[in-house]
Amino acid sequence: MRVTIASGRLAIGLFAVFMCLPWSAFAANEAETALLLIELIQAGRTVVTEHQDLLNDPARGDKGFTPEYFGGKLIEKYREVAKIDLSRATPSPQTGLLLTLLESGKEVVAEAQPVLNKQGVAFKGFIPASWGRKAGEKFTKKTGVKLKLTATEYRYPGNKPDEFEAEVLRQFSEPSYARGREFSRVLVQDGRQVLRMMKPEYVGPKCLSCHGEPKGERDKTGMKKEGLKEGELAGAISLTIQIR
Ligand code: HEC
Repeated sequence: MRVTIASGRLAIGLFAVFMCLPWSAFAANEAETALLLIELIQAGRTVVTEHQDLLNDPARGDKGFTPEYFGGKLIEKYREVAKIDLSRATPSPQTGLLLTLLESGKEVVAEAQPVLNKQGVAFKGFIPASWGRKAGEKFTKKTGVKLKLTATEYRYPGNKPDEFEAEVLRQFSEPSYARGREFSRVLVQDGRQVLRMMKPEYVGPKCLSCHGEPKGERDKTGMKKEGLKEGELAGAISLTIQIR
């Protein structure tokens, strides 16, 4: 498992804010768990993306996109990307967290049923980003592990980057930053040791209809486009997990 340690510049930049600790051996478990959780939320967003046409079909009432159906698809997708079968994973604290995130994601789908099954409406506002945010919020409430999407130019107020995230996002957007590589750091926050991990996300062709050009124009969700170009940094998934 590859883990990136903060560069000197970030450490200096944040020194006044956080007390930076040396990388501790036991944070390796948390780092692995953090990466697996990030992969699971990404897989969930992919499942939503793959069903977007079905969900936006105004001709259909019942879409069959039930929590059980979604959960099955997510388990399948996760087996592909992470090589972990959540339908028969051995119990451990790590598995517990992954299963709780799966459950949180299913709850979001359950709550959306009345909206999703409405006939005569095409776009229902059910998109990967909002699924991911809501699943993250539920997961955080249940576990205390903070999981969020963030961006320098954020849309949803709760996605606003904190000081650490703002600085890492700035690093991610530098051409010299190794593309796609996650960034992690052990910090003391509120008197407790935490592992912070962030993984950058880039603008792909499918993102442009909402986050692309022209900047300021309304997208189909009614929000203003950011004017991003393909390949640019879109934002990051950010995770804060307590070290035991
Ligand atoms: C249908 C329009 C739409 C598409 C397509 C879309 N997004 Fe978004 N995106 C949104 C909306 C709306 C939000 C705010 C969602 C929320 O938190 O409720 C958002 C939020 C985000 C955020 C979190 C930060 C913020 O702005 O609040 C990131 C990062 C992001 N999108 C990246 C992407 C990427 C990468 C893609 C393509 C793979 C993409 N989006 C495709 C509409 C879209």
